[in-house]
Amino acid sequence: MDFFISLTPYIIDWLDLITRWIHIIVGIAWIGTSFYFNWLDSRLDRNIKKDDVEGELWSVHSGGFYNINKLKGPPKEFPKELHWFKWEAYATWISGFVLLIIVYYFNAESLMIDKNINNISPFLAIFISIFFLISSWFLYDFLCKSKLIDNSFLFTIICFVITVIIAFALTNIYGARAAYIHVGAGLGTIMAANVFRVIIPSQKEMVNAAINNKQPDLKKGISAKQRSIHNNYITLPVLFIMISSHYPFTYGHKYNWAILAIISIIGALVRHYFNLRNKRQHKKWILPIAALGMISVMLYTSIPKVITKNYNETNSFEEVSFSEIENIIKYRCGVCHAYNPTFEGFDAAPLGVVFETKEDIINNIDQIKSQSIDSDVMPPGNLTGMTENERKQISIWIDQGSKINNLPE
Ligand code: HEC
Repeated sequence: MDFFISLTPYIIDWLDLITRWIHIIVGIAWIGTSFYFNWLDSRLDRNIKKDDVEGELWSVHSGGFYNINKLKGPPKEFPKELHWFKWEAYATWISGFVLLIIVYYFNAESLMIDKNINNISPFLAIFISIFFLISSWFLYDFLCKSKLIDNSFLFTIICFVITVIIAFALTNIYGARAAYIHVGAGLGTIMAANVFRVIIPSQKEMVNAAINNKQPDLKKGISAKQRSIHNNYITLPVLFIMISSHYPFTYGHKYNWAILAIISIIGALVRHYFNLRNKRQHKKWILPIAALGMISVMLYTSIPKVITKNYNETNSFEEVSFSEIENIIKYRCGVCHAYNPTFEGFDAAPLGVVFETKEDIINNIDQIKSQSIDSDVMPPGNLTGMTENERKQISIWIDQGSKINNLPE
């Protein structure tokens, strides 16, 4: 029995990897088909002289020529097999939720909760997470069904402001990384639910109406179109949030919610540029503005680090010894990041990151810096009580050249 218990953390690590793999594959399939159909619709040759054809497109790919026709209405005779695109979306959501469970719910204590922000129990953290995912959809769906939807500019602004408020609130409930991933998970839930609750039912209705020779419900068609436009704009921000959890200079920043807001605008702007381009409107000014926004965020988050470095170099006369650093890392990090962690609840080194020897520290110096000096995401929730002064000592030691030769022999 003990043997199987010891095996569990390694198995969970594997499940994490496999689920992530599936999540990325089905996500690519979903976003890929969605990008493809957007592109396809915009590139149709609409000057075609065939009665029932709205537009035509020729393409060449993977060793063959493809001739696609978009019909003006339903086909006179339904084909034996009509392809739907829905499982990509459902599988992305399901695998994403499983990932949320494996990575965050299983490690709620260390990855969701930051006691300095909010000392909640793991149970409450998980409860809030599930409640948040469900209510994001209901709130968004409510706004879509309200009068607000008739004014798309106002609708966009209000949805954006609500998202920023939610992001801000989440950074005050959870640890930074969990807060970020929840904004992404909430938006992803809205996207998948749009497919499940609105887009696919509307298409089913369209097919049924055609089969029964009836007029389809126009209103349903319009809301399906709106939801797919929303999905289209949310895509880039969601993808940014998903990958940003590997970059502590985003979610670990003091104003992480504002960075998320600005990058979301940039992502949606870039998407807007391509949507307009597909309509043959070339609003070239959008791209430089997006680039300028990105550069501003980059400089805003990076410059203070260089200033600290220069300050350290000119103002710290006393050399920090390596043994001091080794001690800090041993007590503040090594309790988890060891082959046999001593911190309760950890049975294996998280992500395989180990700080046991001098070499472990030297070889991982950039990682240590980004996780615990340039941001304070490690130790998670500061579980081991690392002090500001200790972070400063490591920072000075790195700026002094991260030497180990002053180690007592
Ligand atoms: C309470 C346990 C714990 C302590 C203490 C701790 N870590 Fe971690 N660390 C984790 C966990 C859990 C992860 C994995 C997070 C994930 O799943 O992405 C991690 C991941 C990391 C990573 C890899 C990040 C990545 O995304 O590749 C680095 C580097 C790291 N920690 C450095 C440190 C440093 C430096 C310290 C000390 C200042 C420290 N950790 C203290 C639990 C801990």
